Amino acid sequence: MILSGLLVSAVGVAAQATPPSPPTAQGLHSLFVAAGKLYWGTAIETNNFNDSAYLAIANNRNEFGMYVPENSQKWEEIQPALTDFEFTNPDAVLARARANGQMFRCHTLTWHSQLPAFVANGTWTRDTLAAVIVAHITNVMTHYRGLCYAWDVVNEALNDNGTFRNSVFFRTLGTDFIPLSFAAASRADPSARLYYNDFNLETSPRKAAAAVRIVQLVQAANIPIHGLGFQAHFRVGQTPNRTSLIATQNLFTTLGLEVAFSELDIAHLSLPPNSTSIQRQSDDYVTVVSACLAVPKCVGITLWQFTDKYSWIPSTFPGLGDACLYTSNFTKKPAYSAVSSFLQSVVATAAPAQGTGRFANGTGSKTVTPMVVAAPATATGVMTLPADIAGELAPFVTSPPVRTSAGAVVIVGKGKGVLVGVVVMVGALLL
Ligand code: G3I
Repeated sequence: MILSGLLVSAVGVAAQATPPSPPTAQGLHSLFVAAGKLYWGTAIETNNFNDSAYLAIANNRNEFGMYVPENSQKWEEIQPALTDFEFTNPDAVLARARANGQMFRCHTLTWHSQLPAFVANGTWTRDTLAAVIVAHITNVMTHYRGLCYAWDVVNEALNDNGTFRNSVFFRTLGTDFIPLSFAAASRADPSARLYYNDFNLETSPRKAAAAVRIVQLVQAANIPIHGLGFQAHFRVGQTPNRTSLIATQNLFTTLGLEVAFSELDIAHLSLPPNSTSIQRQSDDYVTVVSACLAVPKCVGITLWQFTDKYSWIPSTFPGLGDACLYTSNFTKKPAYSAVSSFLQSVVATAAPAQGTGRFANGTGSKTVTPMVVAAPATATGVMTLPADIAGELAPFVTSPPVRTSAGAVVIVGKGKGVLVGVVVMVGALLL
């Protein structure tokens, strides 16, 4: 069954008079997309949903174009027992993202931490643990098939010195648990971008080199791996500089991967921070944003919560904190204003969105060749397009495509041009 939906209802078609004025008062997501990226997102969790001040910001797609569940998709929470799968909380995060027209990024499958007792304390052979890993990944990813832009398939498999972490997975299966996890993931959802995600890759060359070997291990087995997630849990004044961040990203883009900063926060080393530290935090945030903009294959940035009120840092590192862009009472910090002004200047000085590929030079109407994308035949709401198509569309649209209950696919254009084309939705065929 092939579903075809006429692509476009481009809103706000306008003749191109003068170069667009920089978007003002636009949120970080809209500015980041206007600068050519796919998303600016945040970690969020259902225990934040009873906080109306929090939701007033989190629901704003201009600020956040993507959600990732902070804890509810982790093994301990989503499969607390062998035959018990708990999807209520992550489904609620997904439902809120779709209601807001936001993308959904999924975290995480094979990770040594937050494991249920039956896994962490089980007595395993290679075969029995391999079967349990594959069953976990297959069940969880099938539930979210076609709905996650990306999955952190394997998370934090390395120590900072580049050796493998002594996890139940490594003890039982050696490094084989890594290609095994990616193979199961690619079978379970061919449309999801499959990531290796870790911290301190940006600050430890030995760890980054070991992560390169992990990517090569999976690629050598002819198993899909699409992205590298830099968690970017930095400290004020110890954040790597722009050149170093670009070089570290390119260790992986040269292997054909896209990259993302997947859990960004920049913590003050002492509290309350003084004016110098506050200024340095602003500079550090802009450095990360600038380093992502400088790497075409850097697709997006996710904040590991946007407000100090719900940051994981104080309970884990007492004495450190104030790492987020909003204070605990939801006031934008100087670091927020610094990032926003920086992005506004980037967008203002950028040439009219040339973008790349089929939609370039979006002035007036342009005929594009048909594209084939994977999409659940029945799902409505925000669709996850393959990164290459989403990346090409980004300069010209304000949000990801949305499938209406009538089956039409709506993409809201930026009025720079009219997209004339047909997106052929191959639902049943690809799933
Ligand atoms: O769910 C229990 C709840 O039942 C209990 O009452 C409560 C009191 O102890 O604890 C709750 O569990 C907490 C869980 O978050 C859910 O809120 C755990 O104690 C707490 O340790 C856990 O912290 C999370 C941490 O991962 C666990 O490793 C943080 O919120 C979360 O931000 C953090 O995120 C990780 C990424 O997944 C991977 N990269 C590093 C990052 C920071 O550690």
